[in-house]
Amino acid sequence: MTANGTASHQAVVLILDYGSQYTQLITRRVRELCMFSMLFPGDASLDRIKSVSPRVVILSGGPNSVHVEGSPRVPEGFFEYCGENNIPVLGICYGMQMITHLLGGEVKAAAHGGEYGRMPMDIAASSRLFDFLSSSTVNVWMSHGDEAVQLPEGFTAVAKSHQGAIVAIENTERQIYGYQFHPEVMHTEHGMEMIKHFLIGIAQVPANWNMGQVLETQLQKIAEQVGPEEHAICALSGGVDSTVAATLVHKVLGERLHCVFVDNGLLRYNEQQRVMDTFNNHLHLPVTCVDHSKVMLDRLRGLTDPEAKRKAIGAEFIEVFKNYATELEQKLGKKPRFLVQGTLYPDVIESCPPPGSGQKHSHTIKSHHNVGGLPKDLQFTLIEPFRELFKDEVRAVGRLLGVPEQFIKRHPFPGPGLAVRVLGDVTEDGKLDTLREVDEIFVNTIREYGLYDEIWQAFAVFLPVKAVGVQGDQRTHSHVVALRAVTSADGMTADWYSFTPAFLRDVSNRICNKVRTVNRVVYDITSKPPGTIEWE
Ligand code: XMP
Repeated sequence: MTANGTASHQAVVLILDYGSQYTQLITRRVRELCMFSMLFPGDASLDRIKSVSPRVVILSGGPNSVHVEGSPRVPEGFFEYCGENNIPVLGICYGMQMITHLLGGEVKAAAHGGEYGRMPMDIAASSRLFDFLSSSTVNVWMSHGDEAVQLPEGFTAVAKSHQGAIVAIENTERQIYGYQFHPEVMHTEHGMEMIKHFLIGIAQVPANWNMGQVLETQLQKIAEQVGPEEHAICALSGGVDSTVAATLVHKVLGERLHCVFVDNGLLRYNEQQRVMDTFNNHLHLPVTCVDHSKVMLDRLRGLTDPEAKRKAIGAEFIEVFKNYATELEQKLGKKPRFLVQGTLYPDVIESCPPPGSGQKHSHTIKSHHNVGGLPKDLQFTLIEPFRELFKDEVRAVGRLLGVPEQFIKRHPFPGPGLAVRVLGDVTEDGKLDTLREVDEIFVNTIREYGLYDEIWQAFAVFLPVKAVGVQGDQRTHSHVVALRAVTSADGMTADWYSFTPAFLRDVSNRICNKVRTVNRVVYDITSKPPGTIEWE
């Protein structure tokens, strides 16, 4: 194993991030080609780069200019290290400009103002980068203000844009290559083939990374890490990540894995029965269900501030977890040493901050998404089998482990549960029960219409207002609920889902007819940003 816990036989495609919005996309494209990729911030030290023994390094694009003081760049000795170890380097956009600048060429602000969007390029008659292509003109996707005007010694320009810019360079002897355009975006014709040709054809990385292999490696790693005697503990949320992590660890530890599921009183309709049924009957996981709903709701009574609610929920969760661990220790006669967590790669990935922001590397996760987290002082050794995986990869592992498909495809659900969907005091007026009913009808209708898998997350929100209405010739003064459904890739940005009017009419009718405490249904048409996905 390397310092990062990556199996040493695994070829690593290392991506250094210089802040492009497409960097994660490159990481994922490489994985789609069955090669393992990792992303480090662009100013990672040479020691850190060496620690993963990359087979190839890709330098991403980014919003900086090489001429700006303090703009990020590869560490001293990077090109020498790659040269000595036969590691091909590909620079994309800013990456190519950095190669040009650092190796003695010249980069300038483009005389014609830069190139943005679709642009045809002409490819040289002979080139290593494009020798798999039959066409000599290809449309590519550009986004740059600077460009290389003079290449470093030993480099050849192998493509020019129709505006005359040098847009692909190579030095086959030193194995350093550059694209000024973005092959990773789908608007670039043959983009995926270009990446594939570079990685497999030129760099000769074996395309043998797959989830079956990840699973085997993790099973072996966990067996080595935990040994034959020790026990592990896992808090299940009912979501995909912790469930698949527990199922995987259970394969190795069997009865030495102890899971706890906390009913915090903020769960969805019938959620406790549903997830316990999956755990017991489908996955055969040893799970203790702790019903903490009464204590939790007592604690939440009177709290209206969203942060205060989240904090209270987080603190209660930790209390329950600690009690469970103490009881377990008494039962076993020793403390379980390990804690299983479903941490994902996007939770730990460090990306390059925007220029001029004054920030160090940004973690994409937001603090409020961590309320379900456990404090470090609990002193467990962590088992995090998915620290290097994206969510869809965890889903693939889950499928291999036989986790039911319905469960694998579940929409994400926030740790603080319905508390972030009931605005204000969650304990008043039967709000939680009303919301559970509405949410159940909404999600079931979405399933009935076959839309569930197209939507990233769908739920109802209880608003702290009442509206007048008329039901059965009687004037009413009852509750308003909002429905929210979004499409998204990762929850960081999102757009509202465009239901048909027929769907909206149907779902609103069902809700008003079945849930008598509601006389108004509204649909949230806000994207993120400026909104968030949850309301509180
Ligand atoms: P927002 O509302 O910030 O939500 O756009 C993005 C995603 O995160 C979930 N979410 C949470 N998850 N603890 C969690 O574990 C939280 O406090 C929390 N708040 C929001 C939300 O459901 C969505 O999937």
